[in-house]
Amino acid sequence: MREFILYSRKGRTDPRISSLHDAGRLDIVHECIVASLFLSHGLRRNVVFHACLSGPPNPPVHLIVDGETLSDVRTDQETWRKIIVEALSQRPHPGVSAEKTSFEELIKAKSEKAEIYVLEEGGEDLFQINFGGNPVFVLGDHVGLPRKAENFALRYGKKISLGKQPYLAASCITIVNYFLDRKETSCQTDII
Ligand SMILES: C[S@@+](CC[C@H](N)C(=O)[O-])C[C@H]1O[C@@H](n2cnc3c(N)ncnc32)[C@H](O)[C@@H]1O
Repeated sequence: MREFILYSRKGRTDPRISSLHDAGRLDIVHECIVASLFLSHGLRRNVVFHACLSGPPNPPVHLIVDGETLSDVRTDQETWRKIIVEALSQRPHPGVSAEKTSFEELIKAKSEKAEIYVLEEGGEDLFQINFGGNPVFVLGDHVGLPRKAENFALRYGKKISLGKQPYLAASCITIVNYFLDRKETSCQTDII
């Protein structure tokens, strides 16, 4: 199981959303959902994506997309605009729901069962880390993680880096998924 937690600083927290971009950059949330959960012609059933929406008018909102039960989806932005609007209206789509949990509550709850890794350019090199069975990766949107949120998450985990290049949030998720896919494949090969 892998989990990604995106802190969306301005992501809108009511269903009045006609454009994901104009709703506090919810287009970044959409890109991260696609990077977290979609394969070519398939879904990652072992991934859960979380977005902590902190924009107006009703923060916090915790949007959850669970690959295990996700169905009836495509990758395009309009499909996800409609799904997010439904979730924010408390009409969940299969595998997608919204709760009032705060970022801090979510991190604390996850830390009881999983390792927390905060993605940050200045952290420990991804390639040097032995990930346990249920890693949880925390990252910021285009503005980055607020210092307070980063410090809170670091009470429960550590910083890891994908290198010195500043990547888009969705690219970070693709890199982590690819890295873990390759590691799992080589572990499976070792066992055989
Ligand atoms: C587009 S970046 C944010 C850039 C923003 N200007 C900042 O200063 O944080 C979005 C998120 O991706 C993650 N990120 C980007 N590049 C990374 C790297 N090389 N290593 C680890 N995390 C990275 C960080 O979590 C960052 O908050």
